[in-house]
Amino acid sequence: MALARREIAPEQIKEQMAVCARLRAARGEGERFAMVDTYGCQQNESDSEILRGYLREMGYTVTDDEQAAEVIVVNTCAVREHAQMRVFGNVGALTHIKREHPERIVVLCGCMAQSETIREQIRRSYRMVDLCFGPNDIWRFPELLERTFQVHGLPGNRSRVFEATEEGAVIEGVPRARDGSVKAWLTIMNGCNNFCSYCIVPYVRGRERSRRPEEVVAEAAALVAAGYRDITLLGQNVNSYGRGLDEKVDFADLLRRINAIEGDFRIRFMTSHPKDATERLFEAMAECEKCAPHIHLPVQSGSDRILRAMNRHYTRSQYLTVAETARRYIPGLVLTTDVIVGFPGETEEDFLDTLRLTEEVEFDSMFTFIYSRRPGTPAAELPDNASREEIQSRFDRLVESANAVSARLHRAQEGKTLRVLIDGPGRSGEYNLSSRTAGGRLVHLRGDETLIGSWADARITGSNTYALFGELV
Ligand code: SAH
Ligand code: SF4
Ligand code: F3S
Repeated sequence: MALARREIAPEQIKEQMAVCARLRAARGEGERFAMVDTYGCQQNESDSEILRGYLREMGYTVTDDEQAAEVIVVNTCAVREHAQMRVFGNVGALTHIKREHPERIVVLCGCMAQSETIREQIRRSYRMVDLCFGPNDIWRFPELLERTFQVHGLPGNRSRVFEATEEGAVIEGVPRARDGSVKAWLTIMNGCNNFCSYCIVPYVRGRERSRRPEEVVAEAAALVAAGYRDITLLGQNVNSYGRGLDEKVDFADLLRRINAIEGDFRIRFMTSHPKDATERLFEAMAECEKCAPHIHLPVQSGSDRILRAMNRHYTRSQYLTVAETARRYIPGLVLTTDVIVGFPGETEEDFLDTLRLTEEVEFDSMFTFIYSRRPGTPAAELPDNASREEIQSRFDRLVESANAVSARLHRAQEGKTLRVLIDGPGRSGEYNLSSRTAGGRLVHLRGDETLIGSWADARITGSNTYALFGELV
């Protein structure tokens, strides 16, 4: 997999900034609005911050109000059929805005846009989309938008802009408009080389490529200096960070370097692939006092046969060893996971292996998905054997069991006093503050809103499946 690592040169980003300035000047005075709607994972949330950063450079005020926005960007996800259907539904609904205001621009970008088939479908059936580009083109959004505007400027010319560069690159120095002021995403790498047989991500996000550690550390230091208290390092498989870089550096090294930054902050990361989660990583986690005692370690299935068919490169027993080792190194570790139910060929026995594994490990929380066939992936060719009803029943049983485990683990926290970071306003009835424990458990609190952004001690007074409830002490 030794492909050349392509970096977008700083001059290329400068050119994009010049386009932003040009667009801003061309549009003149008066407040103008733009919005970005995000689907999918944290990577996409992080990409949307770049899109908003560029829009701000173009002089737009970023809004959530679809009616007011002159530019509507939909940053899409292709991981499951359901996500795609939602995008198509919501983009389709923009027809009426476009009818009333034909000058408005609709942009569809992100993972769906990387698929040739989907681009064709948009070209043909979603005429309201003016600009469509894939994740590898995000750094040149200004240039693409300018081209779209130019086309729009010509009376009667309704041609549209469609781009999807195959090869991914590393980008530095792009503007970002971050969501929030307490928690920040920090992308350390892009793409994925794992090719799990069910997954579309390697096809839409390209090959794995890491940012240089000094760039990552500089961005982390800038975030800390700007007052961020909770930094999540992002990558599809952070454990393989550093491959392909000239400097010999791995994820454990990177954690240590970020941990050495002065300041009062916490480091989180996701996602870790169990096949690459080594003792070296757990050692670094245990040693770095700023590293949150949390690991998201997607197991996907508890059946060796299915794990092999998924191309996951570990067995049930290896997974159990990894989980056990992690807990040994990191006291109070919060362990979370993803599971797919109904992979082609999964039998009731395979499913029971999954159910038993999750009950044995006792995950703090679990994201459960029904397998979704992704055309172009190897698993899409495999025959289904279980019926929809059977798969739904497995899903329901797994969720019920996972919820019971979460509720039990949460109940065990009652009466304890935990250190939390108050990270935003609350959304749960009379609890007006939301906070997280070091391990990432959600704690609803009551208190003064000026406390947002600070650490506090909370006595846990209640709990449910999803969260803890507490009072400040
Ligand atoms: N790189 C991360 C995230 C991948 S997408 C990882 O490896 O964990 C997040 C989750 O979506 C995956 O962990 C998997 O559980 C789920 N997923 C991916 N493809 C899927 C598919 N085709 N059908 C159902 N769930 C899927
Ligand atoms: Fe998809 Fe597997 Fe890569 Fe995760 S590790 S993004 S599940 S191919
Ligand atoms: Fe979806 Fe793309 Fe993330 S497919 S899960 S937005 S990498």
